[in-house]
Parts: sequence; structure tokens; C-alpha cells
Amino acid sequence: MTASKLLSLVSFIAGVLSTPIKRDGIPSFVLDYAPLVYLDTAETYNPGPISSQLLHTAPSVQGGPSPLTLDNLGQLNSLGGSSISLDSTDDFTTYPSWLNGVAPDSTGKVAGGPSSAIIVNDYQNGTVYAFYMYFYNFNLGDKPWILGYYAGNHVGDWEHNAIKFTNGQPESIWYSQHSSGEAFTYAATQKIGQRPVSYSAKGTHANYAQPDTHDHTIPGLNLPFTFVITDTTSQGALWDPTLNSYQYSYHAADNTFTAFDGVSPTSWLDFQGTWGDPQLLTSDSRQRETLGISVTAEWTGGPTGPDDKQLNRPWICAATSCPVYTSLRARDEEEKEEEEEEEEEEEELV
Ligand SMILES: *[C@@H]1O[C@H](CO)[C@@H](O)[C@H](O)[C@H]1NC(C)=O
Repeated sequence: MTASKLLSLVSFIAGVLSTPIKRDGIPSFVLDYAPLVYLDTAETYNPGPISSQLLHTAPSVQGGPSPLTLDNLGQLNSLGGSSISLDSTDDFTTYPSWLNGVAPDSTGKVAGGPSSAIIVNDYQNGTVYAFYMYFYNFNLGDKPWILGYYAGNHVGDWEHNAIKFTNGQPESIWYSQHSSGEAFTYAATQKIGQRPVSYSAKGTHANYAQPDTHDHTIPGLNLPFTFVITDTTSQGALWDPTLNSYQYSYHAADNTFTAFDGVSPTSWLDFQGTWGDPQLLTSDSRQRETLGISVTAEWTGGPTGPDDKQLNRPWICAATSCPVYTSLRARDEEEKEEEEEEEEEEEELV
């Protein structure tokens, strides 16, 4: 290679490097069909800015970056990975006011910083999964009459909807509910304009496709009495998570995230720990538990972040295949059948 050729090659490379990396924007359909979220009329634990959790907690390990921000949170991993928790600096059992988050304003916006993250996984074959991650500073559990207290309270709460798009068309939508959820066809969902509606249950923020009360027994729990937990949803404040959200593309091959705007923090998405205190020990006088069954505990542990929500799922349902209901009524009928079966089983046991 001659010197002049080398020189032109070097200047060519320099030119390439100085050109800003082109980033494709978030696909418009991901925003056009983004769910709108009805909080319950009696909700007092609103969505909260994701960054606000760092103002009211401290990591359970020493030696992390200071100040801790969404731009460096992932650096904590080297100090203990998934065993790390972000612990409230207040006594959370006294319900400090920061747990209440920020109610949406009249336009549906939650102020104070993004309280939602929209994560796009493009399978590069016409299939795109969009995850609408919702953050709340606190989860107030349900209050089964048999216990007489709210069971399952925890600091920090991550919930989500996921929509599967095929060639830009919304096909099906997942509603996260506790450790599981439900899937519907897009056509089956209630809509405002073309946007599907999600109902966030009072306190627990489990997502439902319709306003109602929703019984959900705790899976795998066999008690000598019926232990029914009821979620309540209704048309309270309407939250439009897109109005204050971080937006990322997810790369499954190396489990990394890129911000569509090129500047939003990504380090927090790598954080493997939990977004609230671990479950209080029974030896702690603030803890309540019934019959020594840990799942009835009043104060449970905080959740892991969005990266732990099966972002590369093979089905619209998180882990396993599930029915994708083609109407809200189909789902109700199936639930009724299940309840009848359960009742029959209970009768057989008696
Ligand atoms: C698209 O790719 C995903 C991931 O490899 C695969 O599970 C899915 O079946 C593919 N869909 C189509 C329509 O080819």
C-alpha cells in the first residue's frame, strides 16, 4: 500500500468513526399500541420514578459507586450479584410517604422522571416483542379476611404488559399478575382508540384486562382452610406510561440494552439484585406470619428488575405456553369452570 493510499484509508476510517452511530428509533407501532393503565380508584401506591428508588434506599453491600445512579447501578453486581438488595433507609413498615409514588396528572403523565421502561426485542423475522415495564415504589399486598392484615407487602414493584407484534400488527398481549399472568388476543382487549387497556390492581399492581375483583389463590399452597386473595381493579386515574418512559432495544444474543435516544441510562437494567428490602425475618418483631407459613408473611422481599422478566420469551406467556383468550368472556368462562372444578375437588376431599 502506498503512503497516499494509507493516508486516504486512515482519513476514511477517521471519518467513519467521527460520524455519529446511526440509531434506529423505536418502532412507531410500539408506541401507537402501547397499553394505557387504569389505576384503581382507591389506589394510594402510585407509579414512581425509577430513579426515586435510589434516593430512598441504600444497597445491602458496601463499596459500590457513590452516588449510586441509574447510570452505574449495574456496577454493584460484582459485589454480590443477585444477593444484593436496595434497602429502604426508612423503616418501611411505618409506610413512609415516598412509598406512595406520584399520581398521574390530568394528562396521564407521572412526573418526576421515567416510571416506565419500554423494551423492544426484535426477532428480525417480523416478530417483535415490546415490554411495557411499570415501576411502583411499593407493593401493598392483599388482605385476606382470614389473616386480617395485608400479606405480601414489599418495597419496590415491577409489573408489565408485553405485546407480540407480527409485521407491525399487535397480535397478543400479556398481563403480568403476581408470579404469572394472562394472555389475550389484541382483538379481545378493551381499548381507548387503538391502545389496549390494562387495569392495575389496587396495591399489588397486578395487571388485568378488565375491571373486576379477581380471586387468585396462592399457587402451591395447601392450607386447612380456603385461602383466597382478591385483587381489585377499576377505572381510577388513567396512566399513560409512554409520556415519561425510557425506551430501549434488547439484544438477546449478549443480553444487552441500547437506549433508542442514545443517552438514557442502561446500567440499571444490568443490576441483578432486588429493588427493595428482603423478606423480614420472623424473628423481627415487625413481621407477622400465620401458622408459620412464609407465604402468609406481611413483609416479603422486593422484586428483581426488567431483565428478569423473560425478555426473550418463545411465547407471549412468560415461561410456558398458556391459553391466549380470544375474548374477555372466554377467560371468564374458563375461570368459572376452574373454580367449579376446585370446589368439586374440595367437596371430594371433605
Ligand atoms: C422468529 O424468531 C423467533 C426466535 O428465533 C422464533 O421463535 C419464531 O418462531 C420466529 N417466527 C417466525 C414467524 O418465523
